[in-house]
Amino acid sequence: MREFWSLEFLLDEETLDPRPDSETLVEAVLQWAGDRRRAWRILDLGSGSGCLLLALLSELPKARGLGLDLAPGAVAAAARNAAHLGLSDRAAFVQGSWQDGLPAPEGSQTWDIVVSNPPYVASAEIGSLAPEVADYEPCLALDGGADGLDAYRSLIPRAARVLQQQGLLALELGAGQAAAVESLLEEAGLGAHRTARDLSGTERCLLATQPRNPATCGPDSPGNRKKKCWKAGQRPLP
Ligand SMILES: C[S@@+](CC[C@H](N)C(=O)[O-])C[C@H]1O[C@@H](n2cnc3c(N)ncnc32)[C@H](O)[C@@H]1O
Repeated sequence: MREFWSLEFLLDEETLDPRPDSETLVEAVLQWAGDRRRAWRILDLGSGSGCLLLALLSELPKARGLGLDLAPGAVAAAARNAAHLGLSDRAAFVQGSWQDGLPAPEGSQTWDIVVSNPPYVASAEIGSLAPEVADYEPCLALDGGADGLDAYRSLIPRAARVLQQQGLLALELGAGQAAAVESLLEEAGLGAHRTARDLSGTERCLLATQPRNPATCGPDSPGNRKKKCWKAGQRPLP
């Protein structure tokens, strides 16, 4: 059992132990959302124990969400956590890889908010993490490939395709990854970046929004006018 966002989460050997640092993302998304009574549709990529999605749903009473994770044990644990927290009617969890495409919400093609805390540790650094992390946390939850950015490269362009105009993509970051991830967001045509720092002052979360008209405002638009379009189309960030 682990407390996250003052909620209790049951864990499994396939779930990452939720980290206090990840509360930075929950806080940043709630600040962006502003209107807590809106029926937000939220997708959580790599949902693990379900901590991010379920914390958000606990604060947004009309929101609904879906969590996707490759690890079947994590999907089962997240579903148990949703039941334990009384959120099963608004949260579902499915097994799958973001590499195989992303699910759409019921009755729509796009999500209002996509969140993810992907694996972001460079493969060679896993051995030097604290033993309780390196030895006990699932490798699938940690290993971000040679430079730690593989998951961001894979999921950012896919998330951009299923994000509502002016919708939000919120990503947790490893220390020192903000600039590299920001470039990937720009390549995917997302704009209005803002980082949020954790309690130790590390840039822990990056927020980006879908422009109002992604087809005409993306990096492939005539004359590459993306910056101008983002300015005109972005939802103002707090
Ligand atoms: C760092 S953990 C985050 C778990 C949880 N969201 C949290 O914040 O505690 C990353 C999660 O991504 C999942 N994952 C890794 N590769 C994936 C993929 N290709 N598709 C879907 N999920 C994946 C892992 O199983 C793991 O649960």
